[in-house]
Amino acid sequence: MNQIPYNKLQIVTLTKKHDLTSFNSTNSDLNDFLNNCALNDQNERVSRTYLCMWERSITGYVALVTDTLEVHAVDEKDGIKNYLYHKYPAVRIARLAVDRNFMNRGVGRFLLLVAIGMAIEVSNKIGCRYITVDSKPESIGFYEKHNFKLVEKYRNNDFPKMYLNMYPIIAMMQPKESKEKSER
Ligand SMILES: CC(C)(COP(=O)(O)OP(=O)(O)OC[C@H]1O[C@@H](n2cnc3c(N)ncnc32)[C@H](O)[C@@H]1OP(=O)(O)O)[C@@H](O)C(=O)NCCC(=O)NCCS
Repeated sequence: MNQIPYNKLQIVTLTKKHDLTSFNSTNSDLNDFLNNCALNDQNERVSRTYLCMWERSITGYVALVTDTLEVHAVDEKDGIKNYLYHKYPAVRIARLAVDRNFMNRGVGRFLLLVAIGMAIEVSNKIGCRYITVDSKPESIGFYEKHNFKLVEKYRNNDFPKMYLNMYPIIAMMQPKESKEKSER
């Protein structure tokens, strides 16, 4: 199947005007969340849901919340030396799904990039170092492909926790001069 060019995809915040009934991913819990919970949760400010539109179709969605990640869950090289607290601040991908008619066309990756971009934006204003996700076992490969790491101690959980260290991505985006200063 052809990839959808990213300049044809549009991210919009979920509103009550959206007709969600046609959305149909392979996971019924994720369809149910979008149809029955996402807007209410958003109004209650416990999650924020973004729809990925292609023309008039909802191709996928991602819901984001804040999170913390136990310091000991993180690989030594992803951690911060002498960090004083037990937990790191994070943004969590609470839900992410692609409509079955649009799978394998780059929409999932696009939604991940959107989530990473938003987490970086947050981290410019409020402390936030990692992106986390409690992955479905069948999606671990998808997240690993995009540099997420599985937290070993949760490997056998029903929804194993994974994380992405945003620091190297942010460092890579800095101009050369400030990059040299902040290198560690
Ligand atoms: C997992 C999911 C989001 C992937 O979305 P998608 O739009 O089909 O994926 P993309 O086309 O963007 O794929 C990007 C890359 O990831 C790979 N990939 C996609 N799904 C994968 C999976 N389940 N396991 C391993 N790799 C996967 C693709 O092969 C592609 O690799 P390539 O660049 O080498 O070709 C989608 O299959 C889905 O909605 N599944 C059901 C719900 C779910 O599991 N959500 C995750 C909840 S935590």
